[in-house]
Amino acid sequence: MQTTSNTIESQPQSKTRRRVFSGVQPSGDPQLGNYLGAFKGWVDRQDQKDNFFCIVDLHAITVEQNPEELRRQTRELAAMLFACGIDPDKSTLFIQSHVTAHAEACWILNCVTPIGWLERMTQFKDKSTGQDSVSAGLLDYPVLMAGDILLYSAHEVPVGEDQKQHVELARDIAQRFNRIYNELFVVPEPVIPEVGGRVMGLNDPNVKMSKSFSHIRGHAIRLLDEPKEIQRSVMRAVTDSENEIRFSDDPERAGVNNLLGMYKVLTDQTESEVEADFADARGYGDLKKRVAEIVIEGLAPIQKRYYELMDDVAELDRLLTTGADQARQVAEPKIQEMKQAVGFVLPDQSRSQ
Ligand code: TYM
Repeated sequence: MQTTSNTIESQPQSKTRRRVFSGVQPSGDPQLGNYLGAFKGWVDRQDQKDNFFCIVDLHAITVEQNPEELRRQTRELAAMLFACGIDPDKSTLFIQSHVTAHAEACWILNCVTPIGWLERMTQFKDKSTGQDSVSAGLLDYPVLMAGDILLYSAHEVPVGEDQKQHVELARDIAQRFNRIYNELFVVPEPVIPEVGGRVMGLNDPNVKMSKSFSHIRGHAIRLLDEPKEIQRSVMRAVTDSENEIRFSDDPERAGVNNLLGMYKVLTDQTESEVEADFADARGYGDLKKRVAEIVIEGLAPIQKRYYELMDDVAELDRLLTTGADQARQVAEPKIQEMKQAVGFVLPDQSRSQ
């Protein structure tokens, strides 16, 4: 367990490092797509950036959640992120609902966002189609996300491919606000890994690997899956009828490409180095065996740290409280600037004590 003090003073606002903001929902079990598309990149670049990572519980309740499960999964996700290597001395990790400025920013940004922009979002269309009832929160989801990013003046938003459209919307909202009021917001850039940005389901390489389908056997590799389970899922992965082990854009070969992509990100190698590793392989059976080994090897230390962290929930809560204190140091002044810009009378601080 990380016990080093994580004071606000230990994280002065960096003048040289670029500010990074990203988030993850505490719903469902985190899976390999989350790790390869997001968490791993957050951890690998921690030293070079000024980082804020957020567990977005406000986003999670845009669809129905069981309250006790949400509470449990929020802590479990925090432990998982620390276990993956988020270092509280280098990055701020916090729970979104601990910093009330997120909900306030969302409201103000709602008032400059045309509804048409939200109705066009692919994720909204996917999640709302066929539902009897859709919450206003689900439509508003990307505005809340824009608020997350803009409150921290983030330059970079490292996400998987599926979140690109939302980050682009955050750019549009920032630009619109800057035009209507004043130049308050940094216009953020999405940062998407070239390989790993879209990890596909093992049972169907045309569908993105997702927490929502992780109950379907053989679809996802959950980060807490036991070695046997991981091996079973990878060995059953859908491939094709050829037996050539190389990267390719051919949709027919998406299954093999997906497995090679996982191997590439986990071994930090180039495509040609990966292909060379498989030069002596005898068919897809060998490929799957080695991919399973690499995944198991990569997840083993994470799982070990995760269970250690979950043994001390009080310490975990303490780290999250400190994270929220640090986040507020940045988000609070920004929300005041937003309120000032739109014409609100700010409370007299000297009388509020
Ligand atoms: P969420 O919780 O769905 O996913 C967290 C991160 O994991 C990435 N990801 C994937 N990457 C590659 N392949 C996959 N199969 C895969 N599945 C998930 C996601 O792209 C994401 O980066 N709306 C966001 C959370 C959010 C946020 C933010 C992100 C809220 N506010 C502000 C960035 C900035 C979401 O639901 O991610």
